[in-house]
Amino acid sequence: MFCIDMRIFLLIFVLFHSLFSDGQQEKHFLHYKFTALTRSDSFPEFSAVCVYDDRRIKHFSDEERVWTLTDEDWTENPGDPPDSRNWFIHQIRTLSDCTHSLCSDHVLQRIIGCELEKLPDGSENLTVFDEYGFDGEDLISFNYDTMQWIDKNPKAKDIKEKWDRHTGRNQYLQYFLKTCTDWISAFNNTNKSSPDVRVSVRKSPDDDSKLVLSCLATGFYPRDVQMNIRLNKTNLENQTSSGIRPNHDETFQMKISVKIHRHYKGSYDCLLTHSSLTEPVTVIWGKYHHKYSLE
Ligand SMILES: *[C@@H]1O[C@H](CO)[C@@H](O)[C@H](O)[C@H]1NC(C)=O
Ligand SMILES: *[C@@H]1O[C@H](CO)[C@@H](O)[C@H](O)[C@H]1NC(C)=O
Ligand SMILES: *[C@@H]1O[C@H](CO)[C@@H](O)[C@H](O)[C@H]1NC(C)=O
Ligand SMILES: *[C@@H]1O[C@H](CO)[C@@H](O)[C@H](O)[C@H]1NC(C)=O
Ligand SMILES: *[C@@H]1O[C@H](CO)[C@@H](O)[C@H](O)[C@H]1NC(C)=O
Repeated sequence: MFCIDMRIFLLIFVLFHSLFSDGQQEKHFLHYKFTALTRSDSFPEFSAVCVYDDRRIKHFSDEERVWTLTDEDWTENPGDPPDSRNWFIHQIRTLSDCTHSLCSDHVLQRIIGCELEKLPDGSENLTVFDEYGFDGEDLISFNYDTMQWIDKNPKAKDIKEKWDRHTGRNQYLQYFLKTCTDWISAFNNTNKSSPDVRVSVRKSPDDDSKLVLSCLATGFYPRDVQMNIRLNKTNLENQTSSGIRPNHDETFQMKISVKIHRHYKGSYDCLLTHSSLTEPVTVIWGKYHHKYSLE
């Protein structure tokens, strides 16, 4: 789960996430991610971010040493895990054997949160985790049920012994992870935004006998959406899709297209299903629009 280079880690994470989250299965997560870095030539650095699905809820600013909400209206948001910037810096210094001011390059990462997946049979798979990595290797993780730490690396032996004895902290972590799933429900039940759906047509660039009919949906949140262009209420084959893409305001957009005959017969429409809508939206493409847009 941990890589030395945070950029590669993030890239893999983003690719993995966008490749596999287009499925129909409902899945949500709430994560806090922490990174502490020591460098031989400068002061230690610390960063932290809280993310729900595709939204950044808040982040820790290393300069101001405070958590900052992405949207100031989000006064209701999950509490923070108990550990401070100084605590992380202390841990990484101890792990790196550099209690004096100068350290060599090291990275300590932590991910704490929960993930909820609806399985095909309707049941829910809930996972909670609090995992640490050091220099790209698994270090230690928390067992929520037993309230014990699991060392995954020889370096973590002493830490496990110490942390197992911190029952107050472990109880707080257990409480934090328990409420984590309440936040998933809370975020899932608010913050929906319904899309603007438009159908348009243009001449096919490579075939004079064809038109390209497109349906663009934009401004929706959450990310999952189903869209289809239909003829006489039947989904068409060979639709192409832009994939789900982020807008700048944390909503999403998607465009699908299909080639149709220039002198088509029948009724084309675009059908969209989204969790912000009580029923699917249908936008009909009529002859009138066709002439209007081409001439
Ligand atoms: C539940 O989720 C975890 C973590 O994503 C996964 O390892 C596990 O296989 C899942 N269990 C089921 C029954 O799908
Ligand atoms: C999220 O909201 C949708 C409807 O908007 C609902 O069907 C689903 O069960 C909710 N999921 C969770 C985990 O609360
Ligand atoms: C959800 O979004 C609305 C506006 O888009 C905002 O006012 C509200 O505070 C948000 N709530 C949460 C819990 O993110
Ligand atoms: C869809 O594309 C395939 C392969 O490009 C083609 O064989 C098929 O005829 C197309 N179907 C329609 C309905 O255009
Ligand atoms: C769609 O309906 C129109 C008029 O009702 C008809 O002429 C056309 O053949 C139908 N097309 C298909 C593929 O069913």
